[in-house]
Amino acid sequence: MFGFTYCAPTKVVFGRDTELQTGSLIRECGGTKALIHYGGKSAARSGVLDRVRQSLDAAGIPYITLGGVVPNPRLGLVRQGIALAQEHRVDFLLAVGGGSVIDSAKAIAYGLAEPDSGVWELYLRQRQAKGCLPLGCVVTIAAAGSEMSISSVITNEDTGEKRSYNDQLSRPRFAVMNPALTITLPDYQTQAGCADIMMHTMERYFTQGGNMELTDELAEGLLRTVMKNAEILHRDPTNYDARAEVMWASSLSHNGLTGCGNDGGDFAAHMLEHALGGLYDVTHGAELTAIWPAWARYVYRDCLPRFVRYAIKVMGVEDVGQDDEQIALEGIARMEAFYRRIGMPTNLRELGVNPSEEDIQTLTQECAAASNGKKGSAKVLFPEDMANIFRQAR
Ligand code: NZQ
Ligand code: ZN
Repeated sequence: MFGFTYCAPTKVVFGRDTELQTGSLIRECGGTKALIHYGGKSAARSGVLDRVRQSLDAAGIPYITLGGVVPNPRLGLVRQGIALAQEHRVDFLLAVGGGSVIDSAKAIAYGLAEPDSGVWELYLRQRQAKGCLPLGCVVTIAAAGSEMSISSVITNEDTGEKRSYNDQLSRPRFAVMNPALTITLPDYQTQAGCADIMMHTMERYFTQGGNMELTDELAEGLLRTVMKNAEILHRDPTNYDARAEVMWASSLSHNGLTGCGNDGGDFAAHMLEHALGGLYDVTHGAELTAIWPAWARYVYRDCLPRFVRYAIKVMGVEDVGQDDEQIALEGIARMEAFYRRIGMPTNLRELGVNPSEEDIQTLTQECAAASNGKKGSAKVLFPEDMANIFRQAR
């Protein structure tokens, strides 16, 4: 077991109508002028944007707004947001949306704290942030977990690079989570979100070193809960309790809790996904399910005890005398069957992309560049392995 630092300072306000507390939460954090950042049409259509505005009005917090964040959020809008917020002397960022909006708000917040330094340099890992303006969020989709995470993922639309930057500085001060706000999501987004939530814990679970019994049990319970409720939501998207279960799981899955005592996690599936996202601009959770079966079959022999435990404790495989390899493979097959049941792709063809050999070289180069040439814990992947996994996922 490894030592760890666990820090999850985000104040969570969870339940129906909690978005009406947003204004007073900003005031509590010392904010005096806010930039409300949001995505496309969903926040206006559902009425959440209006309710948040009313709440800021009631608390006496003036604000400006900037919409237009797209999934795989773009650097161009981040730069626009920094300029706009500087012009209006904003001192608090409020994200109303999902991972894309929250990540874009985090990037703007970094830019505002250090206006004379380039923000993209952070994502290229050429420097460390020295500050980040305070931010809060009203979450409208259970998925990325950005509301409690240290990560922000931005795409440079000029170069096609999708890169992450991780820093404690960007943890939101508060996260408002009303599960009812997620009822308007299309099923595909709900399920892609559930897949992403699970992957954040699976990335921390399939490691070579230092697992902790308590962390494993928390992780396995979280994974079983998300699977069960994803299937409920596939049949009954208006089920509030199921919405609540996956929403809380999304935060706990990526705030560090399910990684305590391990070696920092594998995160190869996410790195392979980031390359795909940069090239094809498709839904994050669906890219993960399209790559995971190929990744799992490529690495399981190097991390067999973890795959066996996963098969038994999460996928319900019974140990009736098969050898470990058979148990592990049955666990992977059941995971794939689950993805199919919730309408998620299990390979790149089902995702709707068909990379040529040249594309595979581009994807591999991007992965290698983003990870300094190697990534993973279950099995350390080098560029040749990355290319093999992309090929096997076709
Ligand atoms: O733009 P609008 O109209 O709001 O539509 C959004 C978007 O099309 C829609 N949506 C959101 N809430 C809705 C809704 N539609 C109806 N009703 C609602 N209540 O859903 C679509 C997806 O939104 P997005 O914010 O992109 O989803 P998600 O939370 O999955 O975020 C994905 C992004 O987060 C990054 C991903 O790479 C991707 O860029 N990630 C961020 C992480 C982090 N910061 O910790 C970790 C993750 O691993 C991930 O990489
Ligand atoms: Zn993710």
